[in-house]
Amino acid sequence: MQRLDRFLSEAGVESRRKIKDVIRSGRVTVNGEICALPDQTIDELTAVVTLDGSAIGRGNQTVVVMMHKPAGCVTAASDARHKTVMEYLPAQYKRLMPIGRLDIETEGLLLFTNDGDLAHRLLSPKRGIEKSYYAEHPGTADEDDIAAFAEGCVLKDGTKCLPAVLEPLGEGKSLIRVREGKYHQVRRMLASRNKPVSYLRRISEGSLELGDLPIGMTRELTKEEIEQLESVDFDEKFFKES
Ligand code: URA
Repeated sequence: MQRLDRFLSEAGVESRRKIKDVIRSGRVTVNGEICALPDQTIDELTAVVTLDGSAIGRGNQTVVVMMHKPAGCVTAASDARHKTVMEYLPAQYKRLMPIGRLDIETEGLLLFTNDGDLAHRLLSPKRGIEKSYYAEHPGTADEDDIAAFAEGCVLKDGTKCLPAVLEPLGEGKSLIRVREGKYHQVRRMLASRNKPVSYLRRISEGSLELGDLPIGMTRELTKEEIEQLESVDFDEKFFKES
């Protein structure tokens, strides 16, 4: 939530000094109603704000934010014992929800949105959006590990995973590509090959790459990036083969 005068100031519509007068003069509407109170709080991510009849800000536009999640925080809105990812979100994004989750010790790409339908679509197992992870573990992955991932790992509790890709990156390092999101999936897949993970970072999700976003920082996706994310479709070929 944000004060209306602050919202308009950040949108750069008037000099800060004049904004309160502009609002008091009745030129601003919020969700269709004139709002003459500069200190009125609004939901900056969903409110439709107009000045002299022109829309300001983003109305109910979809917002998606990428975070480089640090290790040591949980993907939850609140937690009695641990830091949460919400503590790394800048104030204007506090009302976004995480799309999926990363384990407390996993770093990397985590998305947040204000669009529940989009979150639901992206998480749908039917879509099978590919996520890739950089992992460190003892030993070096070999042909047998690659084949086991391609076949679909059988976890220690007997759960069979969908086919995945393991690319050895040299001693103690692998790149893993998966299309499902079971609990602690990548850690459990590597553990099933006797390679317990010592470090894990998600580096991409669908067409999106973490790139050089610093740890603990966020950036808002562009309209084009959101469209690309949305256009990822159910991968029929992959699921027929599995
Ligand atoms: N797989 C894991 O084991 N942990 C994560 O956080 C994500 C995928």
